[in-house]
Amino acid sequence: MTEQMQANSGASPYVSVRWQGDSLGQLELLDQTLLPEQVRMIPIQSVEQAHEAIVALRVRGAPAIGIAAAYAVVTGMQPLFHRRASIEESVSQARSLCDYLATSRPTAVNLFWALDRMRRIIARNSNVASAVELTNQLLREARQIHDEDRRMCHAIGEFGASLFEPGSGILTHCNTGGLATAEFGTALAAILTAHYQGKQIQVYADETRPLLQGARLTMWELQQHGVPSTLICDSMAAQVMREGRVQYVIVGADRITARGDTANKIGTYGLAVLARYHQIPFFVAAPSSTFDLTIIDGADIPIEQRKSEEITAAFGKRTAPLDIQVYNPAFDVTPAELITAIITEVGVIHPVSEDRVRSIAGRGLSSVE
Ligand code: MRU
Repeated sequence: MTEQMQANSGASPYVSVRWQGDSLGQLELLDQTLLPEQVRMIPIQSVEQAHEAIVALRVRGAPAIGIAAAYAVVTGMQPLFHRRASIEESVSQARSLCDYLATSRPTAVNLFWALDRMRRIIARNSNVASAVELTNQLLREARQIHDEDRRMCHAIGEFGASLFEPGSGILTHCNTGGLATAEFGTALAAILTAHYQGKQIQVYADETRPLLQGARLTMWELQQHGVPSTLICDSMAAQVMREGRVQYVIVGADRITARGDTANKIGTYGLAVLARYHQIPFFVAAPSSTFDLTIIDGADIPIEQRKSEEITAAFGKRTAPLDIQVYNPAFDVTPAELITAIITEVGVIHPVSEDRVRSIAGRGLSSVE
C-alpha cells in the first residue's frame, strides 16, 4: 500500500456515532434515514430519543447499535446530575436504562453485549460517591467499546482483503461499512482495504429490499471512497453470478452462533444458496462482539419482525393495496454449512466448525474484560 493509500484508508470521511464532551456532553448520530439525500448529524437529548433512533434505523448495523446504546446510557444518567440523586437511585436508574435500551431491537447481539458491559461497570461502581462519578465510568466504557470496534474493523479489513484475488468482482448485501460500525466496517472494510491496496476490485451491491440499505447507504459509502461499484436489485444476484461477474460474496452479521449459523439482513440466506450453486466462496465478516456462544442452533436466534408499511408504503409511496397480509422479517439465518469462512479481527474461521468458532471468537478483542 502506498503512503497516500494508507492515509486514505485510515481516514473516514463520516462517522455514524459520536460523543461530544465529557459526561455532561452529547450523543450525536448520523441520521441514516436521510441518506443519501442529506448527511445530517442529529443531537440525542434523551434516552427515549436514542431508543427511537435505534428502532427507526436512524442508527443501524449491529456494531453501531451497540455503540450508540452504550452512549445512550450516559445520556439517560444526565437528568440525575441536576437533582443530586443518591448513588442507590443512580445505580437503579442506570440498570433500568440498560433494560430499556435492550428492548429496541432483538436480533443484533452487539446491542446486548454492549449493554452487558455497561451493566458490569454499574455493578463494579455501585459504591462510588455520586451519580457523576458512576456516569464518568460509564462514559469511559462506552468510549472503549467505540475504540475497540474501530480497531476490530481495521483488522477485519486486512484479513478480509487478503482473501480477494486482484481484479475480482465482489457481491455484497445490506450495509456493513463505516455507517454500520465505529469506522470502516466489516464486510465493507474488507472491500475498502482491497480497494486501497490497489487490487482493482469491482463491487456489486444488492439494493436490499425493503429499506434499501444497499442502494442508499452502501452505494453512498462506496462512492465516498471511490470504489468502482454497480447497484443491482436483489433479484438480479443469480444472473450476475451466472454471468461470471462476481468471484466472491461477502456479507456482515447480526449474530453468529457457536457453530457458525449466521443471522444477517433478510436475503443473505438466499445469496448463500445461490453462491453454493454457482461455486462461489461465501464469506461472513464480523467482530467477536457479534458472536453469541450461548446459542448453537441458528433457529434459536430471535428474528425481528418489522412493520408491514416498510414493504407496502416505504419512503412515502404506496406500492401495494391497503388491507393485505404482509410478512416482514428483518433478518434470516444462513446455516454454517453454506459459509466458506468467517472473517474476524483475530483471524479467519475456515472451515466453519464449532471448535474453530469457539477458539477464534473466544480470543477476540471484545472478550477481553
Ligand atoms: O436492519 P439493519 O440495517 O440494522 O441490518 C444491518 C445488517 O444486517 C448488517 O449486515 C449487519 O448489522 C452487519 S453491520 C457491520
